[in-house]
Amino acid sequence: MAKKLNLLYEGKGKKMFNTDDDNLLITEFKDDLTAFNAEKKGSEVGKGALNCKISTEIFHLLEKEGIKTHLIETISEKEQVVKKCQIIPIEVITRNVATGSLTKRLGIQEGTILPFSVVEFCYKNDELGDPLINDEHCLILNLVKNEKDLELIKKIARQINTILVNFFNSKGLRLIDFKLEFGIDSDGNMILADEISPDSCRFWDSKTNEKLDKDRFRQDLGNVKMAYEEVLKRILS
Ligand code: C5P
Repeated sequence: MAKKLNLLYEGKGKKMFNTDDDNLLITEFKDDLTAFNAEKKGSEVGKGALNCKISTEIFHLLEKEGIKTHLIETISEKEQVVKKCQIIPIEVITRNVATGSLTKRLGIQEGTILPFSVVEFCYKNDELGDPLINDEHCLILNLVKNEKDLELIKKIARQINTILVNFFNSKGLRLIDFKLEFGIDSDGNMILADEISPDSCRFWDSKTNEKLDKDRFRQDLGNVKMAYEEVLKRILS
């Protein structure tokens, strides 16, 4: 097993550590919660472990369906060994139902089912507040090599959406929207990185439309941890 060495990077939701293997990192999921570009901060004991379990289950499901990911192995409650990759600084957001920043930006009513899934790009840059960008912005900022990479990212995001919408449907959850991050591994492959969890997705209960994700923290709805536990319970059911 890879040995954990020095802290490489600390993000809002995770810490990354170097290991004794040059191609591998160890990710540690944190209990911290942030929203609105870290203007709002909180913490829930056990949230990191829940996200680690949820993300592990989802990445295993995606791997089974042929999606290449950075996940090698989950080694503890909060830690995963992952492939080192060059992270593409784009937040890839896929939306099935209008809510969040889409309703604010375009005035589409909250809860409107979109006629087709929409893939958006945001520039991963905290100083700028992760602004929405288009394909040409990605190219002039050199965030990817070429247009083909952008097409590939969109294709994989849509494949993941189809897999996850069906999966969560069968668990009584509506996948409203979610954010993905991609990286290029040492062989030059585009792989799914980061995490997929209630921190990065919106889940609504299929029957009641109750929110079971980080919106409970963003909107002060309470029972944040209970919602994450419910998502894990449904995934494992
Ligand atoms: O806030 P917005 O409506 O743009 O978020 C769309 C989706 O992307 C939500 O599921 C949200 O949790 C996720 N997201 C994220 N990290 C961000 C911005 C959005 O995980 N920095």
